[in-house]
Amino acid sequence: MVARSRLEVLAIRGSTSTLDSLVEAFRARAGRAPEGVWFAPGRVNLIGEHTDYSDGFVLPVAIDRGVLVAAARRADRRLRCWSLQEAGQLDVDLSALGPGRIEGWSAYPAGVAWELGQAELAEGAADLLIDGDVPAGAGLSSSAALECATALALADLQQQESAAPVRPDRVELARLARRAEVEAVGMPCGIMDQMASMLARAGHALFLDTRTLATEHLPLELDAAGLRLLVIDTRAPHRLVDGAYAERRAAVEAAARVLGVAALRDATVEQVQAAAGELGEPDRRRALHVVTENARVLRAVELLRAGELDRLGPLLAASHASLRADFEVSSPELDTAVEAAVAAGAVGARMTGAGFGGSALALVPDGLVEALAAGVGAAFAAAGFRSPKVLLVSPEGGARRLA
Ligand code: GLA
Repeated sequence: MVARSRLEVLAIRGSTSTLDSLVEAFRARAGRAPEGVWFAPGRVNLIGEHTDYSDGFVLPVAIDRGVLVAAARRADRRLRCWSLQEAGQLDVDLSALGPGRIEGWSAYPAGVAWELGQAELAEGAADLLIDGDVPAGAGLSSSAALECATALALADLQQQESAAPVRPDRVELARLARRAEVEAVGMPCGIMDQMASMLARAGHALFLDTRTLATEHLPLELDAAGLRLLVIDTRAPHRLVDGAYAERRAAVEAAARVLGVAALRDATVEQVQAAAGELGEPDRRRALHVVTENARVLRAVELLRAGELDRLGPLLAASHASLRADFEVSSPELDTAVEAAVAAGAVGARMTGAGFGGSALALVPDGLVEALAAGVGAAFAAAGFRSPKVLLVSPEGGARRLA
């Protein structure tokens, strides 16, 4: 069974039922109608994993699953947040916001309100109701989607209020959304997810240089290639993600210092191998992953520019192998998903996102979608894993106002 996203259902039915019910749910909680509804997408990363905190290259694709935020400004200085997926509501004075001061899911919208306040882009007094269909902990950036939808909602509402509005640009909002994750939530992430959620273009992958933040939208011609993009959510939640992620980050920063470069973006394979002794293990392998992964992104970009999506397979395979053996962020479930996807006829597959559980992606010929879902399901059952969820995703545009 391949699941459809809420946005696709919305498009197929040609109705606004999802939006109507969100507006009703907002009214039931806030006692008034929202001023608008905003959407920001989750993402899969085609290639370029664990490179964005080494000033490297990434190639994410925003997906048609994400977060909806219904929002209205408040005249006092309170921030109230509700979620249709999570229990508990936030109701605080703006003076109670700040790094580490709010816990649980509402730390994300609260962190964004705080960052926009610090940057004087929005006051942050608002009622927010959050709805989403990105599975949390699946490596599909549900947190970036939540941050970016909140950031755009608060910035747009503020702009509506000002006499001489200055519209903050999307790169600035992505930066603030990332800061919210780092400071308010304590996850030392790179900027890939927030940039993808804010800047992606429908039908395209986003080639991002995380050093300069230069972007290029590359057409992802799935239809022309007769391919589909599948996400295999292993439903094995990120394990130890915070500690292990920070540890990888520390390892590549240490390796850059040993090599005498500003970031591993500037290193070559030869440099890493020549410094093997000084780097020691596992840091040599950690560095090798980053350096080889950056090269794979550039090669994938060439293939996309040439419209040769069907030739991505070997790069996806090499990326997965490097993440498994050198960076050591895969998991038995992810390895099984990738193997079973390729065995079922995928052109290519690999883990996507931070790893330690979460999701794999697969590029699959049109007619093999159901067969692949069945093959992966059977492989998981044989291994005694929880049954995975297979999602058909399509390249979405970045954060925007829907109503
Ligand atoms: C998480 C982080 C990103 C990136 C990926 C790994 O998604 O939020 O910044 O580092 O892991 O590529």
